[in-house]
Amino acid sequence: MSDITRKIKKIAVQKKEASARYRKAKENLANSVTDIKRTGGVFDIQLLQKTVTDMFNFLTQNDSAFTYLTKDISSYEDYLYNRSVNTCAIGTAILNQYNQRLAEIVNNYLANLLSGTSGKESDSLPDSFINYLPEEILDMSTGFMLHDIGNVLIPAELLKKKGKLTNTEFAIVKTHSYEKGIEILEKNGINNPFILNPVRYHHCALFVGEPNCYPEEKLPTDLPAYVKICKLADIYDAMTSKRAYHEALNPIGVVKDIFLNYANKDSSLQFILHSFLKIVGTYPAGSILSLQNGQMCYVLISDGPVVLPLTDSHGAALTAKPEPIDLADERLVETTLRIDPQKPLKSPIEVYDSLPANLKEHILN
Ligand SMILES: [Fe+2]
Repeated sequence: MSDITRKIKKIAVQKKEASARYRKAKENLANSVTDIKRTGGVFDIQLLQKTVTDMFNFLTQNDSAFTYLTKDISSYEDYLYNRSVNTCAIGTAILNQYNQRLAEIVNNYLANLLSGTSGKESDSLPDSFINYLPEEILDMSTGFMLHDIGNVLIPAELLKKKGKLTNTEFAIVKTHSYEKGIEILEKNGINNPFILNPVRYHHCALFVGEPNCYPEEKLPTDLPAYVKICKLADIYDAMTSKRAYHEALNPIGVVKDIFLNYANKDSSLQFILHSFLKIVGTYPAGSILSLQNGQMCYVLISDGPVVLPLTDSHGAALTAKPEPIDLADERLVETTLRIDPQKPLKSPIEVYDSLPANLKEHILN
């Protein structure tokens, strides 16, 4: 078996494992929603926390695990569950990155400071600073999973409405966060701020003057970092998910738009934005991208990315065995072997007919 085939098989195994976990998470969330509807608010929080713990463990073992989230939505209910699981997975990945990076910076600073006063080598000092503790991150992840739970108590016809909401309708929909969501958590005796805050504040402004944000009385400076991360993960997922009335957008274009919207607006946001970029600003291994010359390529390694061409520039499957291309190679800058940012990423199933025969089995399994 060639190295490339081995790599493709490994990606396929990771995808399978990720989709099994996400399916389970969606199932448990669906059960919670059914319970809330039946009882008027009560659900099994322990079961949901177990689900979040499973996802959390998986995400911390595998850096790119969150990129294998399901983006295809079959029904409105499916959309609600997917969005919650996706926001939880993406938000947790960003939160981990943010937390580790912040601890590294502070510990390096402390090590330099202390080695200056004690004369010891900086690497002999233990890492003493931890920003968020693992159990706190787990609670925040639960908050991410539940961020939109208040929607269960909002009339479905308003949430499904395709046209613009009237002012009265929008006023009702807004209550899903700071009123209905909190009502459900309180009914279940949940008063942990790491769970409550993402639910209550995930539509708050990230900078002074950001439009269409609520509740308005919460200032961006008073918003904890994990709530800001929840909001960014939620926006990113909403824009990259497919819905009946809008196509999924290219994730990298979405990252750029979000970054441009929030960069240089609030100094406390810059560090969070860098963590956001680091996590979602790459092309996920296992996805299909388009080059400017019209060729479609399979992403083998997201760093670069390193891709395997699948078609010629007219979209026909290649008959000769292709060689991988590292798109970060500077020699390619003047060529058309560059990513077309206008074309959305695809999954191998969507381009099945264009896959070369020798790769069909491995890429899809
Ligand atoms: Fe929301």
